[in-house]
Amino acid sequence: MDEFTYRDGSLWCEGVPLTSVAERYGTPTYVYSASTLIDHYRRFAKAFDAVSPLVCFSAKALGNVHLLRLLGREGAGIDAVSGGELHRAMVAGIDPERTVLAGVGKSEAELREAVRRNIRCINVESEAEVELLSRIAREEGARPRLAIRVNPDVAPDQRTPARTTTGTRGGKFGVDIERAGALFARAAADEALRIEGFHIHLGSPIFDPQVYAIALDRLLALVARLEAAGHRITTLNLGGGFPAEYVDRTAPSWDDFAEVIVHRLTGFTRQGGQVIFEPGRTIAANAGILLSTVRYLKQAGDHQLAVIDAGMTHIARAAMYDSYHFMWPVQPPAEAVPSSRDVSGVEGLTTYDVVGPICESSDYLARGRSLPALKAGDHFAIFTAGAYGMAMTSNYNSQLRPAEVLVHGDQVSLIRRRETYDDLVALELLDDGSDRNG
Ligand code: LLP
Repeated sequence: MDEFTYRDGSLWCEGVPLTSVAERYGTPTYVYSASTLIDHYRRFAKAFDAVSPLVCFSAKALGNVHLLRLLGREGAGIDAVSGGELHRAMVAGIDPERTVLAGVGKSEAELREAVRRNIRCINVESEAEVELLSRIAREEGARPRLAIRVNPDVAPDQRTPARTTTGTRGGKFGVDIERAGALFARAAADEALRIEGFHIHLGSPIFDPQVYAIALDRLLALVARLEAAGHRITTLNLGGGFPAEYVDRTAPSWDDFAEVIVHRLTGFTRQGGQVIFEPGRTIAANAGILLSTVRYLKQAGDHQLAVIDAGMTHIARAAMYDSYHFMWPVQPPAEAVPSSRDVSGVEGLTTYDVVGPICESSDYLARGRSLPALKAGDHFAIFTAGAYGMAMTSNYNSQLRPAEVLVHGDQVSLIRRRETYDDLVALELLDDGSDRNG
């Protein structure tokens, strides 16, 4: 599943012990395994090989340009959701032919940038956005390719948090499926535009492959209606949403998803249609951990608290969505070295609330978690943090964003330095107009 394993009593990433990373770069630090990231990308693409998809890695999950470049060299494109992410894709050297842009509220400047760069597809989310894109296209003398993001009104099961569900009726994303056909026809009649097809993204993460099947069947029925009316549909983008293992063996495999998706699309691809996927989490989540350090242990009522140096500003998911992340000391006592994330057989554990340093009552990384006895100074790993980890950090409480380190074999590279106090105030102006550097 990934290259973070306990060996010789402590946690390693590929050929590097994480104690050495903590000593050299400090904590909190995100550590990524290049082999895991590349392996996940390759195996995902292979599972869907039969429909030769363009796999656009979703940069919102993990945006470090070093890692985007690494994926780009493997053939991945980028799914961007803002001008900022388009910029990341460009810095990472991703071919615009492999870049797509989504987003419910793209600015005129963001759309114009996408048009100028002639990216592979702009996924529009409303009638008004089509009008704006059409005007920009005329002004720029360009013919952008676009797809309509459809809201297929498909609800995932209860394992997908309501806060990350995107394809149900009344939500802000996409165009209601009953109106999508008319919008397609309107765009097809506009010679400034090249309308190519449709885009869906149903939520994140989605555990039940049938959710894709239902949405895809609705989409294919719409495609068939439009084709019967003489239109040609050449792009179908199924978005992301594929799950990652936060605990052992809870997520279906990529083959399980391919099994329901691929046969529905072979007719489309046989006629030359291009399938696009936008996976983020499923590629990146288990390719990264957040390495932290225990600062204090304290008693609060009948709770045992472990205060660590990483809080909701360094990894927001637990505070935001009550998400579960497996966490464990980097060098546990010999009897508590885990062989998997199922630690129910490990004896002598203590129940902790794991909290961060942020002044917010929601700054909990875990409540009532069974862990080996901790002590101040212990290095502590938060697993499955590669997706929506660093990407969702903030400077709240004037916390510094973590460093990012990439491990490949026994090589360690710093791919983003830790922020400094000067970085924190670098953009702020004093009232005499001077900056702090005089
Ligand atoms: N495509 C679109 C249009 C999306 O909105 C998203 C994610 C993706 C692709 C990638 O989805 P993935 O393959 O990573 O599931 N911050 C939340 C997740 C929000 C996902 C937003 N959209 C979390 O930490 O769980």
